[in-house]
Amino acid sequence: MKIRNIHIRIEEYESEKSLEKLETDLLAKAQEAIKGSYAPYSEFRVGVALLLENGEIVQGSNQENAAYPSGLCAERVAIFHAKSKHPDIKVEAIAITASSNNFITKSPITPCGACRQVIAETESRQNDKIRIIMKGQVGIVQAVNGIENLLPLMFKEEQLKKSKKK
Ligand code: THU
Repeated sequence: MKIRNIHIRIEEYESEKSLEKLETDLLAKAQEAIKGSYAPYSEFRVGVALLLENGEIVQGSNQENAAYPSGLCAERVAIFHAKSKHPDIKVEAIAITASSNNFITKSPITPCGACRQVIAETESRQNDKIRIIMKGQVGIVQAVNGIENLLPLMFKEEQLKKSKKK
């Protein structure tokens, strides 16, 4: 038996003011996207903004449903929309934030497991990492360069290919 330690790297900033302007602006766009959230069940309103390689910004917000699992997270709404509208343009960065109707979000909003997997697929497809910038309504900002920092040992297409051979 051997132990393998995996190193992940998370940047922490005291506030969005410490980020580069492009990233502060992207977080502001994520904040703005919250307006489109439809979250009558959780009352937890998530907003996302993607920065595409061509400079375009794609926003998304969570869309819930009375049949709960039919709803979709803000990250996947934005990523799937970006891929549909701009199939060949890379995603460079994603900013995520959220506010609740019932409390103030104080820690960075991190993507759920399913959204991490979709970010991983996007990175594989475009052969480039995505910078992920996460913030609550108040408090610190966390940022990572690449999904491997949020999803170590991720499942990838290569594994599907290997299993097909045998
Ligand atoms: N949600 C997102 O949109 N993104 C996340 O990163 C976490 C969770 C949504 C799903 C659901 O509509 C609500 O937040 C509560 O889980």
